[in-house]
Amino acid sequence: MSWTAKKLVDQLITVVEPSRVKIDASDLEYYGKDWSSGATPNPSAIVFPKSINEVQGLVGLANKLNFPLVPSGGRTGLSGGAVASEREVVVSFDRMNKILKFDKVDNLVTCQPGVITGDLKKFAESEGLFYPVDFASAGASQLGGNVATNAGGINVLRYGMTRDWVEGMKVITGRGELLDLNRGLKKNATGFDFRHLFIGSEGTLGFIVELTLELISPPEEPTVMLLGLQKIENTVKTLAVFKEKLSLTAFEFFSGTAMQKVIKSNELSDPFGRIYPFYALVEFENNNKDQLDVASVLFEKCIKSGYAVEGVVSQNQSQAKSLWKFREGITESIADYNPFKSDVSCRISKIPTFLQELEKISSVFSRQFEVVLFGHLGDGNIHINLLQPFQMDSQEFREECKKISKLIFESVQSLGGSISAEHGIGLIKKPYLSYSRDEAELNYMRGVKRLFDPENIMNPGKLVDI
Ligand code: MLT
Ligand code: ZN
Repeated sequence: MSWTAKKLVDQLITVVEPSRVKIDASDLEYYGKDWSSGATPNPSAIVFPKSINEVQGLVGLANKLNFPLVPSGGRTGLSGGAVASEREVVVSFDRMNKILKFDKVDNLVTCQPGVITGDLKKFAESEGLFYPVDFASAGASQLGGNVATNAGGINVLRYGMTRDWVEGMKVITGRGELLDLNRGLKKNATGFDFRHLFIGSEGTLGFIVELTLELISPPEEPTVMLLGLQKIENTVKTLAVFKEKLSLTAFEFFSGTAMQKVIKSNELSDPFGRIYPFYALVEFENNNKDQLDVASVLFEKCIKSGYAVEGVVSQNQSQAKSLWKFREGITESIADYNPFKSDVSCRISKIPTFLQELEKISSVFSRQFEVVLFGHLGDGNIHINLLQPFQMDSQEFREECKKISKLIFESVQSLGGSISAEHGIGLIKKPYLSYSRDEAELNYMRGVKRLFDPENIMNPGKLVDI
């Protein structure tokens, strides 16, 4: 251990017990990165606080000795928001993972930030309730990280983003102060709601140390339809048909390239016996028989209009889950190709124009790279994934992808969309933030950061610089 590393550890163990400070190479590697690729992990230490007091102690120490801190949840982020590549101290919430309190009258659950999303969903179920935020990484992502990135996922169309479920929150600001925000109130008209500044702030303003989230009554068991489509524009036309008459819980789309990868890596059988250029996955709550009848009429309409070629519909929950596998398995099935990810959004009314422009852009780059498209079309969110050819060097691949990204972002900007719908800005999207936020707005963002974290100890280098 170098002298400086020893000095740092000596300081950290004045706040947390020695067994909760790690500097082994394997821990530094594991906790120094998230699911994004590109940056090399290089933290100086990993600490595992067990209480709000300890987090506050760490922030005090970091301000005094001027070392940077990186908040770390399940590290399932895809924009490098939890990467520590500049000798930062990583603060992991793995040991603050308890559900603290459930209030049956208010349907509010109070959790430590390290609770895994899937565990909260199971807890809600055990109380006969439902936590509606859901995504493929729910088995690994932590609530604090979800809130820090305002995580979205597959149910946003019906239930909104993580922001919509946060009723209260305790934070330790970058100055080291404890704030108790909103305290579970439904109505509270007392000025600035700082809770919403911390949601989506990607750990740049302080640490989220406790959360109060709302649970609701569970939906009826959903029915899922999978449709095979010939053209990308038919995805939006199909959405319009279904949205008009049914209350959808999800409307996802994915390309034939995505389907091929999922089938191959999971050894699934092809639901249609042939690969379509595009697929739409429609989910709706099946609360009465009428819904199913309405859905079959809408399906027929899509077939007659030529929007869809064929489709399958789930008859029970196990079949519904099997159909979801084709969509939810995509990220994992392309992980080995070091994908370059864009996660953009537009208003639904602009999506047809965006898809046309995307087709034009991709007619050039698809000769160079395999393109896997998918996303939450129902809420205007498209994920564009470029796969690294095995023979191409990583550096060269990233440089080429950046050029393509610029074209995509220019198109998104011209349509008033967002360059990051749900993955966040982190390290990877930071150079492009001005495509979605103008200079005046960026200046206010910097001002907010300076206010909460004047010494710039909280996740420096991510989102905005001060
Ligand atoms: C998804 O929709 O599956 C997630 O946003 C992950 C991804 O884009 O890879
Ligand atoms: Zn997504």
